[in-house]
Amino acid sequence: TYVLLNHDITTRENVKIDMEDRGYNFGDGIYEVIPVYNTKTMAMEEHLNRFEESALKLEIQLPYDKETLKQLLEELKTKNNITNGIIYVQMTRGVSPRAHLYERNAVGLITGFSREMPFPVEQKQTGIRAYVTEDIRWLRCDIKTINLLGNTMVKRKATDHTCQEGIMHRNGTMTEGSSSNLFIVKDKLIYTHPVTNLILNGITRQIVLKLAKENGYKVVEEAFTLQQLSNADEAFITSTTQEVTPVTKVVGDIETDIPVGSITKALQQLFAEHVK
Ligand code: PDD
Repeated sequence: TYVLLNHDITTRENVKIDMEDRGYNFGDGIYEVIPVYNTKTMAMEEHLNRFEESALKLEIQLPYDKETLKQLLEELKTKNNITNGIIYVQMTRGVSPRAHLYERNAVGLITGFSREMPFPVEQKQTGIRAYVTEDIRWLRCDIKTINLLGNTMVKRKATDHTCQEGIMHRNGTMTEGSSSNLFIVKDKLIYTHPVTNLILNGITRQIVLKLAKENGYKVVEEAFTLQQLSNADEAFITSTTQEVTPVTKVVGDIETDIPVGSITKALQQLFAEHVK
């Protein structure tokens, strides 16, 4: 299998990362996970736009333009013969003697891989258990940084409670999942957290909202509370890897059972057609 290292599609043995890479020392870097359906990348442009935005927010310079990155990622996917799966790409601020202060607009170090990954067929039908807990992350969740300890700690806790995802709240206001966006449906209205510094504006989120609006569903981009979650008619998460997955049981700071609802199913259907 092949991997991406800056300008080169190469093999993994050829990748040597310096122990003073700022990604390694500080988690100083960004990433994207891009889906591949039936050998074709989906929403590549949207993912690379967000990658560029994250880079801009952190003042890291891409080593080449977006079009070049796109071509390299396509080549990586093709060379690895990916049918259904993901492309992972990350960029760190690169190597410098360890010090908190970063130089503005240092040229980043890019690595990437691609692999087959089955999309969650069963979970999409039956739904998942979600563990709801406090959002302990920082206040720039809009940046898709590789610094993910707040997310990984929640995921660990969720798994310890036999849940497949952790969903988070700040003082009772729901934000998002550890690696997904969160939605509820109440009285036929679809609610999800607005685009602020407190969530990552998921590409799947954006696609689902667009599909919902185009098909006559009413969308409310307003934050909802733990209380509203516990009274929801439907709940689901979205992400590149989870697509549209129903949440059928919530445990943790509140406990509730939620059926797989008709709007969730309709959105799953619309999403499936969209990626076909
Ligand atoms: N995670 N929120 C968070 C915190 C995420 O990490 C992700 C994605 C999303 C959904 O974004 P998108 O629809 O663009 O995939 C929301 C990726 C899949 C990951 O870290 O593996």
